[in-house]
Amino acid sequence: MADFDKGYWDNHWGDPVASTREYQLPVNPYVMTETAHLRVGTALDAGCGTGAEALWLAQQGWEVTGADNSRAALTTARARAADTDVSEHIHWKETDLSRWEPEQAWDLVVTNYAHAEIGQLPLYRRISSWVVLGGTLLIVGHLHDHQHGDHHGHPQSASATVEAITNMFDSPEWQIDAAYENTRTVHPGGTPVQLRDVIVRTQRIV
Ligand SMILES: C[S@@+](CC[C@H](N)C(=O)[O-])C[C@H]1O[C@@H](n2cnc3c(N)ncnc32)[C@H](O)[C@@H]1O
Repeated sequence: MADFDKGYWDNHWGDPVASTREYQLPVNPYVMTETAHLRVGTALDAGCGTGAEALWLAQQGWEVTGADNSRAALTTARARAADTDVSEHIHWKETDLSRWEPEQAWDLVVTNYAHAEIGQLPLYRRISSWVVLGGTLLIVGHLHDHQHGDHHGHPQSASATVEAITNMFDSPEWQIDAAYENTRTVHPGGTPVQLRDVIVRTQRIV
């Protein structure tokens, strides 16, 4: 099983086939639907990869920080943003989310499929502490496919269930506004791939 450490992600994004294939994926649909009603402000994309969602958020008016530990991914993200008129509204930060102590908190923290070495729930716990009071945390993750075992290379350690995630936020501090699972088909490189997703949107209320 893969260790999702910095070396793994640098290799991943340095591989022209993998990075081009994922680069072509459209903006994550849950980011679009789950943030559409929010008042724009500051946003962090934790594990932003090549920046599709960070870019989209900036185009909606958010002041975005795109954070990732892969220099290769951020180089692509920067180049992508440079072709748009919102590049000055995105700050790219090369950092390890499992150690980072940011000096600010954000109105919106999103994470899409970021599977880090420390595991999903510890990662979600860390990034949840970076949400301002009244702000929103949106988690989009892989759901492990028990039927098909190691689902498209996403082992159980890289996934978390709706129940496990919502249990983490079952406290007076948080209000869970959306929590569901969904299956969708994407076409990286023209090949249909089914993704089983878990989506949790929660608001810090205390
Ligand atoms: C599957 S990719 C998802 C990228 C992007 N969010 C997307 O949906 O296309 C996971 C991303 O998380 C980043 N990542 C993994 N562990 C990290 C860590 N400890 N610190 C920062 N970024 C990390 C990887 O470099 C990679 O870009």
